[in-house]
Amino acid sequence: MYPSFPTTELGATGAGLSADCASATSTPSDFNSTNTAVLTMTTTTKATGWEPTPPTAAPPPQLPPITETPEVETNSPSASGANDDGADEVLPIEPEGDQGAFSDYEDDASVAGSTHSLSESVLEHVYHNGRRYHRKSEEQYVLPSDETEQDRLDMMHHLMLHTLRGRLCITQFQPHQDPPRVLDCGTGTGLWALDFGDRHPASEVIGTDLMPLQPSWTYPNVRFELDDLEKTWTWKKGYFDFIHARMISMGIRDYPRLVSQMFRHSAPGARVEIAEHPLDGPYCDDGTVPANSCLHRYHRAIETALQGMGINTKLRPRDYERMLEAAGYVDVNIYRYKMPWGHWPKNRESKYQGLVALETLKSGLEAYGLQLLTRSMQEEEARALIRETYETLAEGRMHVYAWLWVVTGRKPV
Ligand SMILES: C[S@@+](CC[C@H](N)C(=O)[O-])C[C@H]1O[C@@H](n2cnc3c(N)ncnc32)[C@H](O)[C@@H]1O
Repeated sequence: MYPSFPTTELGATGAGLSADCASATSTPSDFNSTNTAVLTMTTTTKATGWEPTPPTAAPPPQLPPITETPEVETNSPSASGANDDGADEVLPIEPEGDQGAFSDYEDDASVAGSTHSLSESVLEHVYHNGRRYHRKSEEQYVLPSDETEQDRLDMMHHLMLHTLRGRLCITQFQPHQDPPRVLDCGTGTGLWALDFGDRHPASEVIGTDLMPLQPSWTYPNVRFELDDLEKTWTWKKGYFDFIHARMISMGIRDYPRLVSQMFRHSAPGARVEIAEHPLDGPYCDDGTVPANSCLHRYHRAIETALQGMGINTKLRPRDYERMLEAAGYVDVNIYRYKMPWGHWPKNRESKYQGLVALETLKSGLEAYGLQLLTRSMQEEEARALIRETYETLAEGRMHVYAWLWVVTGRKPV
């Protein structure tokens, strides 16, 4: 087991945090917090768009510890509920009973001493099926870029914090030993980077993303850059002391190359942490998802479309572990968390997680679905499948969950 996890849990202010997080204050949309965000508003970002909303006080419940298991292999998606690799150290969640790379980013110039130059088109959007997408969404990254999606990402950030018991990451830093240079790959709306910068005032944090979803204000030690991580990085080699990536696999065709670039741009002794979900599913331990379920139809269609875009939908924690080790990282560890979808779990903490996940899926199923499902079906059919899938999850009869896999490592000194 991971040796130094604190047993502190989320309290009334959501601030049950590790030493790493001990100085936490709220970010504007961290709705765990009752703090009023006091920010130095400097406009260092190149991006425009989302503006923060003030925090609302919605204290989470007192929670029992979550199940976490380092260094174990994953389950596979299963309608039968069997784990086909036999590794089942992450216990099943008990149900409650019957109730229910493109040319916008040029390679040859440098912006802010690090990133590629950006063409105007980086800021352009297109509209499909009533949603706004980044202009290159069809080839590069299929999720929308509109406010609905940004709200979903902010809610996902809350869910991730909750899953990790208030920690931003599993990698721990001693008090007063903030890593000097931090990179958040695929930062999305930038909440992780902002939170990290807030909790680690001596760190300089760069959040980078394909899309301009980040706030136009930031902390003095956090800045945002638009870039394609699949291009050759132009930051200095050996520059970063901590590289973090969370939920970016849908936009990465060559993950091993990405990890090699992470390694090349890591300083000696630097830490790395990759947190990913599976891109397939559905996952279920007790056979409550029949083989002909809409959940299977939804996932199969999404997966096929992603594979058609060259995305590897079958990456497992051991694959990320192998990539890190092949790149040269050592002390590689895997942590796995089950994240239920819907209100079906009996345990209060899991039920809360499931309900938040369901809320994210209200727009998430459409966000994932419309661009991808409409590659193989008409819009009406896609919308019907999305609706049916959501309603099925909301009923809570099928005990479905997703994984959060976190893989950590260190570059040798
Ligand atoms: C699901 S969001 C996750 C955002 C953030 N990491 C989080 O955990 O809240 C994935 C983000 O990765 C970004 N992304 C995907 N592929 C990328 C790439 N090749 N280069 C840069 N950013 C990428 C997307 O634009 C999107 O904002």
